[in-house]
Amino acid sequence: MYQLSGVTKRYRRGKDTVDALAGVDLTIEDGGRLVIQGPTGGGKSTLLQMLGGLDRPTSGSVELDGVDLASLSEARLTKVRSENIGFVFQSFNLIPTLTAQENVETALVPLGVKAAERRTRAAEALESVGLGERFGHLPGEMSGGQQQRVAIARALVKRPKVLLADEPTGNLDESMRDEIMTLLEGLWEEHGLTFVMVTHDSALARRAPRLATIEKGKVKITERAA
Ligand SMILES: Nc1ncnc2c1ncn2[C@@H]1O[C@H](COP(=O)(O)OP(=O)(O)O)[C@@H](O)[C@H]1O
Ligand SMILES: [Mg+2]
Repeated sequence: MYQLSGVTKRYRRGKDTVDALAGVDLTIEDGGRLVIQGPTGGGKSTLLQMLGGLDRPTSGSVELDGVDLASLSEARLTKVRSENIGFVFQSFNLIPTLTAQENVETALVPLGVKAAERRTRAAEALESVGLGERFGHLPGEMSGGQQQRVAIARALVKRPKVLLADEPTGNLDESMRDEIMTLLEGLWEEHGLTFVMVTHDSALARRAPRLATIEKGKVKITERAA
């Protein structure tokens, strides 16, 4: 479970400061699905980075299962991230010189998983995103939708409890967007993930049971009846 209290993030740009997050209180239950929506520059990515322990707040606390991520050493934080949190980004962030299989396996290296098991688990993860025949392909030989599927397999191969996605369909056309969303929603349900997704797309925001609207660093929550 996530518990955020009074989270602020202040960036400095020359002599100006920007309050990307201006006092965010937010609870996300285990297995919950939350969409974060808002205008460009509203603080969506900053909030997701706080949830992922990719950056630290200026003040306030970001607790994951009772542990304040902001208080951890860099080494401990890296460990929490590699074990518990899967990331998917708009730009896929695959390594261009590695095959689909090898890209997925990279997520298991920091966990000390042996080579043979890495191979089996990566193959299973690629199957689970519908890429059974693309193991040996390089990112450049795949469509955007296929590359995003590889990135999703890489995020989930370590069996994290949390999946964080920042505009995961932002680079895809509409039909691909719907395919990837259906895949993500299916994986969320199947694995009981805590799933937080950033989007500026209202059509996607409407699909979520719980919506956090963020504007000028302030969050407003809307719950929908199931
Ligand atoms: N590393 C940074 N340095 C300075 N300003 C930043 C940095 N990251 C984000 N910002 C600023 O913080 C605000 C929120 O940014 P961001 O979280 O990326 O918004 P969103 O994802 O909603 O578009 C913006 O004004 C942005 O310019
Ligand atoms: Mg952003």
